[in-house]
Amino acid sequence: MTKPRYLRLGINIDHVATIRNARGGRFPDPVRAAHVAEQAGADGITAHLREDRRHISDDDIARLTREISKPLNLEMAATQEMLDIALAHLPHACCIVPEKREERTTEGGLDVAANFERLQPFVRQLSQAGSRVSLFIEPDTAQLDAAVALGAPVVELHTGHYCELALAGDAQAAACEAARIAAASAHGAATGLEVHAGHGLTFDTVGPIAAISELAELNIGHFLIGEAIFTGLEAAIRKMRNVMDRARAKAAAAETV
Ligand code: PXP
Repeated sequence: MTKPRYLRLGINIDHVATIRNARGGRFPDPVRAAHVAEQAGADGITAHLREDRRHISDDDIARLTREISKPLNLEMAATQEMLDIALAHLPHACCIVPEKREERTTEGGLDVAANFERLQPFVRQLSQAGSRVSLFIEPDTAQLDAAVALGAPVVELHTGHYCELALAGDAQAAACEAARIAAASAHGAATGLEVHAGHGLTFDTVGPIAAISELAELNIGHFLIGEAIFTGLEAAIRKMRNVMDRARAKAAAAETV
């Protein structure tokens, strides 16, 4: 049996900062959460510095850059302010996401095809500075092809819609959306992109996504920070790692039969 390719797990710590900001002050500290995530086997730390600073702050990004040992993935909108911050800190990776002030979370993927010229200088400057640029997109062939044309080395596929369908109990529609994500992953990998996925994933929804062999990384946050209330962050991350590994091993075994 061929050994399944390792699937990296990036832990998004934004919502530790959400809880901190509910009271102001310093607790709980998202940088401490990043250290716990590293100990629990996270392969990277993800943080979204939003325009309105509703969770992660500028100081959090500065501290994460200095203090963590695993790669930092900075999620950012394509604005001059965020570009300046990214260029000042030079995180390992920058994931460009669409951002709307009134949304509760990132609602959809970037329309790379429609914003090609606007995105071009961001991809170019971040890449030239040495950061690995990722574009957060819907699992859609036209968006993948636009990402390739733009010269982005990485895309992250939005799994939010799949998770909503799965959690609503619509198994058939969820399976359809998971198949769309699998097809987009295969198309992306075939065109030379490194393909990641994330948004809304839970213990119950991660399996079919982790089973997609072309995916190189998942980024997961909100659910795990919630689970941490009940089991602790380290246990929650270890369990997610386990569920991902089992799903991937099972899919690899099924392929070789
Ligand atoms: N990937 C991207 C690009 C995101 O914007 C988010 C949410 O900040 C995530 C992954 C993680 O999503 P969740 O917190 O729902 O697990």
